[in-house]
Amino acid sequence: MNIMVIGSGGRESAVIRKLRENPSAEKLYALPGNAGIARMAECVPISATDVFAAVEFAKSHEIDYAVVTPDDPLCLGLVDMLEEAGIPAFGPSKAAARIEGSKAFAKNLMKKYGIPTAAFETFDDYDAAREYLLTLKPPYVIKADGLALGKGVTIAETLADAEAALADCLLSRKFGDSGKQVVIEEYLTGVEASLLLFSDGETYRLMPAAMDHKRALDGDKGGNTGGMGSIAPNPCVTPALLSEIERTIVAPTLAAMRSEGCPFKGCLFIGLMLTDDGAKVIEYNARLGDPETQSILALLESDLLSAMLAATDGTLSSADVRFRDKRACCVVLASGGYPASYEKGMKITVPDVLPSNVKLDFAGVSFDADGSYITSGGRVIGVTA
Ligand code: AMP
Ligand code: GLY
Repeated sequence: MNIMVIGSGGRESAVIRKLRENPSAEKLYALPGNAGIARMAECVPISATDVFAAVEFAKSHEIDYAVVTPDDPLCLGLVDMLEEAGIPAFGPSKAAARIEGSKAFAKNLMKKYGIPTAAFETFDDYDAAREYLLTLKPPYVIKADGLALGKGVTIAETLADAEAALADCLLSRKFGDSGKQVVIEEYLTGVEASLLLFSDGETYRLMPAAMDHKRALDGDKGGNTGGMGSIAPNPCVTPALLSEIERTIVAPTLAAMRSEGCPFKGCLFIGLMLTDDGAKVIEYNARLGDPETQSILALLESDLLSAMLAATDGTLSSADVRFRDKRACCVVLASGGYPASYEKGMKITVPDVLPSNVKLDFAGVSFDADGSYITSGGRVIGVTA
């Protein structure tokens, strides 16, 4: 099979590493990939958001299967476009990807189908939103409706900061159309968990729950990042709690998507807060997480390509999806200063030999003129054991 994987992060590196274990994955392309991924797949300089170029590439290179992992191309409808061109793809349709692409869609879905989540209201008018804020107590949680490169959520300790976040979205349009609507929601406390699953629209298969470490520095200090590390399984998600989450959240969410006419196929990522009042949904993602994927795939015992194909063609109920009863941990090596400003172009040396249970996934890494590795992003390498 000729397979193309869309994306350029550590997550895509881990996915490609796993896909390669299946001998039928003869030729792998990454669009655009990175310098580390280039050791495993042919990197093609097409950005993950250039969905038209991706479809053209797939047609001209006899791609048999596409794996679309980042949120932007999913929300732009790349999976639908590929399917129209006769190319099966792992990932949800554009309509199903709204579960991540529009927080208002996700919150209204949860309200309509009784799925536990923080109480909320949506607004597109600044004055109305501000009036509602005055009825709440801090901390205030304000979310831009659409995709905002992970920067659309503000947890404000003061009313002034909350008003500024509202103004950023609704008045100065800092996030463009992604912020023309906002969700204001109840602040939840507890431990967070990332629950990922494969779904073919009807059946789902859970992956081990993971935990993402969001702050940049040790001791839970520093700015909020896309994720500095992950562990799986999440020690706070006990078997009893997991059954409860399946009953109250997982099954109802997938049923709700079917009822809305957009069954969810691909990987659904449910971000949970484990509150004193039970597990509640913080957000849905329509894709694998980064760096949750690095830890979770380290535990996958069965074949990744078969699981993905089964999610795409509707045969997940009979697919072999098994995880090892072990523990995995991913630590991200980042550039000093990340998630704010940081230097690029620093040389990287990696050991030639690693212990057999340690894997490196490159993310913000490029080649310099002499072909050696240099940093080109904030999150540089994920080390998973
Ligand atoms: P999101 O982009 O929706 O995942 O939000 C980013 C982070 O903000 C989450 O991982 C939580 O740590 C935090 N967060 C989001 N919503 C809430 C909430 N309602 N209460 C408390 N923390 C939240
Ligand atoms: N690590 C969180 C995410 O992938 O959205």
